[in-house]
Amino acid sequence: MSVEMSKPVPRPGILDIAAYVPGKEHAPGVARVYKLSSNETPLGPSPKAIEAFKAAAGNLERYPDGQALELREAIASVHGLNPANILCGNGSDELLGLLCHVYLGAGDEGIITEHGFLVYKIQIMGAGATPVVAKEKDHTVDVDAILAAVTDKTKIVFIANPGNPTGTYIPVSEIRRLQAGLPKHVILVLDAAYAEYVRRNDYEAGIEVVSSNANVVMTRTFSKVYGLAALRVGWMYAPAEIIDALNRVRGPFNMNAPAIAAGAAAIRDQSFVQEAVSYNHLWIEKLTSAFEAIGLKVTPSVANFVLIHFPEADGRRATDADEFLTSRGYILRAVRGYGFPNSLRMSIGPEEANRGVIEALTEFMGHKA
Ligand SMILES: Cc1ncc(COP(=O)(O)O)c(C=O)c1O
Repeated sequence: MSVEMSKPVPRPGILDIAAYVPGKEHAPGVARVYKLSSNETPLGPSPKAIEAFKAAAGNLERYPDGQALELREAIASVHGLNPANILCGNGSDELLGLLCHVYLGAGDEGIITEHGFLVYKIQIMGAGATPVVAKEKDHTVDVDAILAAVTDKTKIVFIANPGNPTGTYIPVSEIRRLQAGLPKHVILVLDAAYAEYVRRNDYEAGIEVVSSNANVVMTRTFSKVYGLAALRVGWMYAPAEIIDALNRVRGPFNMNAPAIAAGAAAIRDQSFVQEAVSYNHLWIEKLTSAFEAIGLKVTPSVANFVLIHFPEADGRRATDADEFLTSRGYILRAVRGYGFPNSLRMSIGPEEANRGVIEALTEFMGHKA
């Protein structure tokens, strides 16, 4: 017989979760605000995606295709995959949550890394399981630390590659070593939200590793280089059995019709993506060297943001810099919750914003602009 309570009570552990706090959007009293806090692209989506979105507005009374076939086929043809191994989600966040919902329960453990994306921890705890943190090395995922954290309770391992908020990556050889060291029943989630931006010969988002193993999945998003964050479009490439399990519990119409249409058009426009990647590459280099020149440390980034570290000694701390930048209309991301109390993360923005942040930080650091 169950015990009667005076009000509805969530499952144990739910109220221990610290809710995700999205990047700030407002700078009170400032006329022109640049939001550089959520790793959105400054270039917007492909005009073809906008066109497809608008066309979808003509049929809003109809349910979307619950299989999101048009989008899965477009993704499959661009990446050379079988559409049967692709599952789309309302942002990749939904897929990260579904993986935890389906594969974790009370008593299980999920491994995350020291500076890993906060959604992993939230979803592990939401499923009633326990997050176990593996240390990183030089702000980079450490495969040995992850393997050392595995116990007989481990069911899932999450790594973002590249990492957020670090912007660092590990080569595919390390991913393979990680997979080889994990028990076969442990799912390895390769979150490749920023994969399109990476220009490194030893990097792979994970397609090969997923294709040749039954316990690896890769998640991707249209929120970054494709500029569709508002529409919530993510996808997962995974073995058929994992897709099947998630399909059983997801919402039957988890992808809305405008998102399906715009996503399909966006991924077919790869020349737009290449332009966005080139623009990003140029500014990652410029911003990194400009910040280093004024005495700031920057973690080397292969993604579309930079993690800027403020000096410990002389009192010019990240919180002061955040306030200083916000008062000038530049909103960066405080990353205290990621284990970086004296750092800020800056998404690559439009040219005037990037130049403006360089100028403002130069002034903040006491150099002549
Ligand atoms: C590492 C990482 N994974 C996943 C996401 C979530 O992406 P989506 O917008 O597809 O839910 C983000 C967004 O910030 C991210 O940084």
